[in-house]
Amino acid sequence: MIDIHAHILPAVDDGAADLDTAAEMCRLAADDGCTTLLATPHQRTPSWWNCEGEKLCSTLEALRSAVGATPRLYLGGEVRVDSGLLSALAEPDLDGTLPLAGSTYLLLEFDRRGLGGLDAEGLAQELRLAGWRPIFAHPEFIPDLAQDLDLMRRLVQAGALFQVTAMSLTSDFGRRLRVLAASMVEAGLIHFVASDAHDLTRRPPGLSRAHRHLASKYGEALARRLTSENPQAVVENRPIHWHPD
Ligand SMILES: [Fe+2]
Repeated sequence: MIDIHAHILPAVDDGAADLDTAAEMCRLAADDGCTTLLATPHQRTPSWWNCEGEKLCSTLEALRSAVGATPRLYLGGEVRVDSGLLSALAEPDLDGTLPLAGSTYLLLEFDRRGLGGLDAEGLAQELRLAGWRPIFAHPEFIPDLAQDLDLMRRLVQAGALFQVTAMSLTSDFGRRLRVLAASMVEAGLIHFVASDAHDLTRRPPGLSRAHRHLASKYGEALARRLTSENPQAVVENRPIHWHPD
């Protein structure tokens, strides 16, 4: 399995507090069956701008040294959507914005209070036209999306992909989020499952429980697609399988 969303980069956001914790999170993920993790620090948020690429790369290198060869680690960002995002991405250095593992996939985060009048469909279209593949993180937490599967369908038509959180599927955040996440999977609107891990206990890494849950409910093929095959396409920068069974 490959986890495309994990806050394992130490001391850069509300994820791993230090290098030891970060390395332990990586070991936990590997023990749980993850061969590859994408370190996705928050970017472009008021609290964590995190757009100094060299500093983030050297922090990842320190983590690689501590962890060893397994799991493989790549860098990306969980990029907050704001009105300046498109112009930042048009800069030669992307204004420090980090695509996932150097690919054309971008992991994007909307404000959890809602879209705030933002034209999400227009944004998805503009990003696709510019050659990006936008992945919208955890739609189950965004009220405007969670309550409107038709809007999610239109966003997929516009070129957006969606990543649901493993712990939402497995009821760790309560019944309401489990039902929302399941309805998105059942509607064929989810392309990735990721941990969004932040620490060792409260929001730990690991996809095996979500994989087992998906396999028992919807079959092994879908579970594998969301936890392994589509994430592998991100790492290899090729299009995903995106038609639901
Ligand atoms: Fe996150």
